[in-house]
Amino acid sequence: MRVVTGLFSGRRLVVGMVALASMLLLAAYLLFFTSDTTTARTDQPIAFNHEVHAQNGIPCQYCHNGVTRSPVAGIPSVELCMGCHQHVATEKNEIVKLAGYWERQEPIPWKRVHYQPDYVYFNHQSHITAGVNCGSCHGDVARMKEAEAVVNMNMGFCLDCHAEQKNKDALYDCVVCHR
Ligand code: HEC
Ligand code: HEC
Ligand code: HEC
Ligand code: HEC
Ligand code: HEC
Repeated sequence: MRVVTGLFSGRRLVVGMVALASMLLLAAYLLFFTSDTTTARTDQPIAFNHEVHAQNGIPCQYCHNGVTRSPVAGIPSVELCMGCHQHVATEKNEIVKLAGYWERQEPIPWKRVHYQPDYVYFNHQSHITAGVNCGSCHGDVARMKEAEAVVNMNMGFCLDCHAEQKNKDALYDCVVCHR
């Protein structure tokens, strides 16, 4: 009996060590081989609410009109906001602040939510014209009161979807994203 228990705990030790080693490896991988592409949300200069605008039927592309013709989606100008807010909800605090930027002819210093390192090339136009939805990469923004990054768009995330495309070999080439 003693020998058997001894063997048993010996094996348990080995299993335990293997489990520990793989946890350490995983931790090291997460620490050194992936970078987090999201930044913590800090307060925006104006409490812009995506949900309210979506419920009023305003399409994403009305404000982010770069998505079909350029690498960047684009953040709308104060002028575009004022196209509606010269008349809409003018008594609200946040709209009074908005009007202040307009009167001073100052751009609103919005804080970025998504972030890719400089060595990564990304282009909205090619994805939107290929029929990829905003939601695959940004989550359900139409339900967000505050825009936040809910998808960590790291390299594995990009490659997983590229692996499902017909021209996947071309889309796996390192220089596609690292030019
Ligand atoms: C009325 C204009 C307007 C509409 C409509 C709109 N957005 Fe935005 N969007 C903004 C503004 C202003 C910001 C910057 C402030 C913020 O982050 O909330 C922004 C920020 C974002 C961001 C974060 C960008 C970053 O990385 O900093 C994403 C993603 C986004 N919008 C996606 C969408 C999607 C998807 C839709 C449609 C469901 C949409 N937006 C509709 C005005 C708009
Ligand atoms: C295939 C993934 C993907 C899709 C689909 C996508 N985006 Fe993005 N988006 C990104 C990435 C990656 C960034 C960060 C780019 C950077 O930091 O250079 C970003 C940044 C943004 C930004 C802030 C910077 C900018 O480009 O102006 C906005 C706004 C935005 N996206 C809106 C949208 C909207 C609206 C749609 C749908 C019409 C959409 N995105 C579809 C991946 C995507
Ligand atoms: C196409 C018209 C349109 C545009 C463009 C537009 N808005 Fe609005 N916005 C609305 C409507 C409609 C409401 C809802 C008003 C209400 O419920 O009283 C609203 C509400 C708001 C509110 C109040 C939200 C709340 O929580 O009650 C803020 C703040 C706001 N918008 C900011 C902005 C900013 C900043 C921009 C530019 C980036 C912008 N809007 C562009 C139509 C627009
Ligand atoms: C949900 C699917 C999906 C995700 C996620 C995705 N892509 Fe793509 N990507 C595509 C499709 C579809 C194409 C277009 C293929 C074509 O036109 O042949 C493409 C093409 C590209 C291209 C080549 C076209 C060009 O614009 O030069 C680059 C670069 C690229 N993606 C970068 C990225 C990066 C970086 C990420 C992650 C931040 C990413 N993609 C995430 C589906 C995706
Ligand atoms: C579809 C786009 C895409 C392709 C293809 C791609 N990468 Fe990346 N890569 C990314 C993105 C996005 C990041 C930044 C996010 C991250 O660190 O995961 C990145 C980050 C990296 C990093 C830095 C990791 C770190 O911790 O800072 C290295 C190294 C790298 N890639 C090497 C490669 C090599 C080698 C290939 C070819 C086998 C390749 N990549 C192909 C999108 C891509």
